[in-house]
Formats: sequence, structure tokens, C-alpha cells
Amino acid sequence: MALDNTMVVGVVGAGAMGTGIAQVAAAAGHRVILGDARQGATAGAQAAIAKAMDREVEKGRMSRNAADELMARIDFQWDALGDDLAAYKRCGMIIEAVIEDLETKRALFHRLESVVATDCVLATNTSSLSVAAIASACEISGRVVGVHFFNPAPIMPLVEVVPWLGGDGGVAASCYALMQRWNKTPVLASDTPGFIVNRVARPFYGESLRLLDEGVADVATIDWAMKEMGGFRMGPFELMDFIGNDVNYAVTRSVFEAMFYDPRYKPSLTQRRLVESSFFGKKSGRGYYDYRAGAAAPQPNKDVTLGLVIFERVLAMLINEAVEAVFMRVASAEDIDLAMTKGVNYPKGLLAWANELGLPRVLGWLERLQTDYGEDRYRPSPLLRRMARDGRRFFE
Ligand SMILES: NC(=O)c1ccc[n+]([C@@H]2O[C@H](COP(=O)([O-])OP(=O)(O)OC[C@H]3O[C@@H](n4cnc5c(N)ncnc54)[C@H](O)[C@@H]3O)[C@@H](O)[C@H]2O)c1
Repeated sequence: MALDNTMVVGVVGAGAMGTGIAQVAAAAGHRVILGDARQGATAGAQAAIAKAMDREVEKGRMSRNAADELMARIDFQWDALGDDLAAYKRCGMIIEAVIEDLETKRALFHRLESVVATDCVLATNTSSLSVAAIASACEISGRVVGVHFFNPAPIMPLVEVVPWLGGDGGVAASCYALMQRWNKTPVLASDTPGFIVNRVARPFYGESLRLLDEGVADVATIDWAMKEMGGFRMGPFELMDFIGNDVNYAVTRSVFEAMFYDPRYKPSLTQRRLVESSFFGKKSGRGYYDYRAGAAAPQPNKDVTLGLVIFERVLAMLINEAVEAVFMRVASAEDIDLAMTKGVNYPKGLLAWANELGLPRVLGWLERLQTDYGEDRYRPSPLLRRMARDGRRFFE
């Protein structure tokens, strides 16, 4: 399967992700076809890419000429896409970025197959659905692959490439190489809930919410502890308010359900109530914090002992999740650390962090939590136990 630079790339869905992906593909030199089922969506996409180009030119990162040429490589479909998808006929690869709904994606892939060549690669940008469930709508299903970009796609380097059970191994390998040529940082993830990032990051939110629910500390103090002691760029509550509690809660619920209700991923009632109250975060003016004009920012309790209790507990759960992902072969240790640093800007890879702290020490934190609470949520990964017992470290 050759995915070369002369191939036309189709992008279906001109929302936040499709627009960014079209820009990335055009920047890599491809001709791009961008369409959407909603009239006016591609006009919005064109305006957004034009604005991004203006910024590049202003900052001296691109010449006006190169920016104009990039724009000219994108063939915006001004008419809303209907059942006829003939515009995508010439594509060597199509990346789907429509709404996160299984039936919509399955129907789209089925319809695309009737217009494209038999060797056209069909990629999905789904965040939470199984690639297998989408691929099985296709006749030639081996050509389907997950290619998961992060928002905003032109800026975030990470792309999770997700082969599925019936996928053609060559397709995933070609996509991986293509993402490298697009100046992205690809990682290989198994077709499991949340792939790497949306799974391994869950305790950053979940354990922080648990600490809040137990009254160990308030949001400002937990955010302070994770930034001050952990070096995270944003605290978990600031980040949830930024992402949107509706979006963050939906991802947590989807991973919890898809993992057959494993208590490690249990959603928080506090977050649910926030969503029910329309306290979505920054975009609605209220979340864990109050963003309305004149609202006073809560002050953290900068008690170092308390800060360490918070930081070590959240970090122990994050490291445990990363180790478990290696154990369950979601991805390699290298790719898991790369994913968390390039996809969500963690200050360090979690497995490198475990090495630095010492695996027996992290195991000790988890064992104390498990003994204290008697909950399966805190069970240490068997791999962490084995490696600590055998004196092994990651990447050796
Ligand atoms: N937003 C993120 O942070 C993010 C990150 C990674 C992946 N994703 C995934 O990318 C996909 C798109 O997300 P988004 O945030 O860009 O959503 P969005 O709502 O901004 O855009 C989705 C677009 O798809 C269009 N659409 C719906 N049905 C269609 C159809 N049948 N044919 C053509 N167009 C159709 C809609 O009109 C809309 O413009 C989802 O699968 C999402 O899970 C989102």
C-alpha cells in the first residue's frame, strides 16, 4: 500500500478536527478534498485555515506565496454532502472526522466504498469508538484504520495509528510512515477503549475528583499541588474546565462502559452534577471555577505535606495505568511515554517517571491505597509488582 505525496487526500467532516487535518495534509503537499454534510461548514473551515495562514505569514514562518498555494491545494466542497460522494473518487486515502456516532460513521464508510478505488485507505479519527465496529461496515474492511489526531491538529504532534483485528497490516504501516512524512509523531495503539492517551490520562481527572469528593482538598489546592509538585502545565480542574466538563465526562463514561465497568475508570458524581447544571467550564462561564466577571479566584492551601499526599496519589494512579497499558499490550512503553508527552504535554513520560521514583516506591503507594480503601480501583498492575520484585526498570 503506497501512500505517496501525489495522492489526493479526502477529509469528510469540516468541524474542528476535519479542518485541522485538511490543513495538515495540504501543508504536506497533498491535494485535499474537504466536505461536510452541513451547508456552510466548509466556508467556516476555509475562513479558519485562511486565518491560520495569515498568522503563519505574520510570524514569518511562511511566505505569502506558500500560504496561498497551501490554500489552493484544498478543494472545498461548497455544497453540503448528500448521498453522492463522487467528489472523493480520486482519493488515495480518506480521513473521516464526522460526529462521534457509530451509525453515522458506518453509513459513511459504506457509502464511500461505492465511489473510491479498491485500494483507497479509509481512516477514522474516532476518539472513543472501536475501529473494528466502524470497519465491519465495509466490504473491503482490511483497508480501514484508526488515525487519531489531537486538537488542534496542526499544532499537536501526536497521532495514534490504530490497526484493528481484521485490518491489513500494510495499511497501518503505510499510515505510520505517512504521518512521519507529515511531520507528526505517530504511535501505534491497539483498538482498545481510549487507545493510549484517553485511557492513560483518566486518573489525572478521576483521582483528583475522588480527592475532592473525599474532602482531602479543594480544587485550587489540588490544581496547585499537581502544577507545583508535578510540573503539569495545568491542574486537573483547570484542564477539565478548559476541555469542557460535558466532553470530559462523556469520555470518562465511554471508557468506563467500554471497559466493562472496571472501577479504575469510575466517573464522578460531582462531575455529573456539574454537567447537569450546565457548568461546563470556561465556555459556559462556570465549572469548578467561576469565570464570570468579578468572581474571586479561590486561593490554594500551599501546605507541602498535603500537596505531596495529593500529588503522589494522582501520580501513582497515572503510572499504574501506564504500566497496565504496557501489560495489556495497548502499546509499547516507548509509545506510551511519547503519547503522554506529545499528546497531552505531560512534563515527563509516566514510565520514565516511574523509573526515576523507583518502581518499588510507586508500588508501595498503591499497596497502601489498596489496603486503606479495600477497593479494586487501587490494585497495582501485575507488571508493576513483577518488575518491582525483580528489580527491573522500563527501557532497559
Ligand atoms: N474535538 C476533539 O478534541 C477531538 C480530538 C480527536 C478526535 N476527535 C474526533 O474527531 C471527530 C470529529 O470531531 P470534531 O470535534 O471535529 O466535531 P465537530 O462537531 O466540530 O465536527 C463534526 C462535523 O461533521 C459533520 N458531519 C456530521 N455527519 C456527517 C456526515 N454524515 N457526512 C459529512 N459530515 C458530517 C458535522 O456537520 C460537523 O461539521 C469525532 O469522531 C471526534 O470524536 C475529536
